[in-house]
Amino acid sequence: MNRIIELINKLEKEHILPKSELAYIIENHTPETDEYLFERARRIREAHYGKDVYIRGLIEFTNYCKNDCLYCGIRRSAKQAERYRLTEEQILSCCESGYALGFRTFVLQGGEDNFYTDELMVKIISEIKSRYTDCALTLSIGEKSRESYEAYFAAGADRYLLRHETADSAHYSRLHPKNLSLENRKRCLSDLKSIGFQTGCGFMVGSPYQTAENLAEDLIYIHELQPHMVGIGPFIPHHDTPFADEKAGTLEMTLLMLGLVRLILPNVLLPATTALGTIHPKGREKGILAGANVVMPNLSPKDVRKKYLLYDNKICTGDEAAECIKCLGNRMNSIGYRLVTDRGDWKN
Ligand code: 5AD
Ligand code: FES
Repeated sequence: MNRIIELINKLEKEHILPKSELAYIIENHTPETDEYLFERARRIREAHYGKDVYIRGLIEFTNYCKNDCLYCGIRRSAKQAERYRLTEEQILSCCESGYALGFRTFVLQGGEDNFYTDELMVKIISEIKSRYTDCALTLSIGEKSRESYEAYFAAGADRYLLRHETADSAHYSRLHPKNLSLENRKRCLSDLKSIGFQTGCGFMVGSPYQTAENLAEDLIYIHELQPHMVGIGPFIPHHDTPFADEKAGTLEMTLLMLGLVRLILPNVLLPATTALGTIHPKGREKGILAGANVVMPNLSPKDVRKKYLLYDNKICTGDEAAECIKCLGNRMNSIGYRLVTDRGDWKN
């Protein structure tokens, strides 16, 4: 039998492979072995979640950031970024319109912005959770102390997304300024998980200097951490960053990673990301067909959409949330899946 097919079968059974075997798949997969992998991944995904696709309302509430990650369009040094912050009232009104559209998960995402003190975050979290008792609240606001994470959890936040970006510390330091370390990123993720958050890590595919070994290490780290969610999207250059002239990650490699992650963590919540929809017009559909089961449309007010640009050519920055929901609903139906109104919790 084809060596790749053999390894895919072994991964499905054992949920992890030695690094050399993962790297072998990454370097030698073909369109035929991909089709085989995606078919296995869909079968596993459907055993746990059926044909349901969960929606998360993404509220990008600040694009101020104290960090300077080399890839990111809202890094501190990105002089062209027009900075904005949403008030508590604006955030609540996003939730209100999102709730009416069927969202039962809100994701508060922002740069690392000290304007939002723990006290203010706790106030916003408590307010959202008391108004929408049947909704889950996800935070994606970066690296904090364990104490801060505990305060957010006590206030009612259910989930936390913090991509690890790359599990290789040398690679990590080529993507980030000196004051950031993989070690602290991993500390954050293990704190989040032990506090009780449904926790998400993740990485970019095709980030500068990334090797097949690096991707294999990402998969091994994911298997070690056992997160509830994994965010994977292609790296896409942003014109106002040091990586402006780097190549974007590919559709093929991103889909491969989604399929492999589904085999490693059968019940993981796995989004077909906006970045994937940005590099290919059918990217999100293909992501679902490779094993993903979540989409995260934008709920941010229309006038700030074009300002939260982590990468160039981002889709849906001119559309109302209602249009995106309709569009995504049609897209999912076209491939035999359906958007559902549900908190969409991780299933054990
Ligand atoms: N291309 C693709 N994804 C990016 N992110 C940040 N910058 C880019 C980019 N240029 C991702 C990071 C981050 C998440 C919020 O967005 O992985 O964790
Ligand atoms: Fe936004 Fe299609 S999902 S317009």
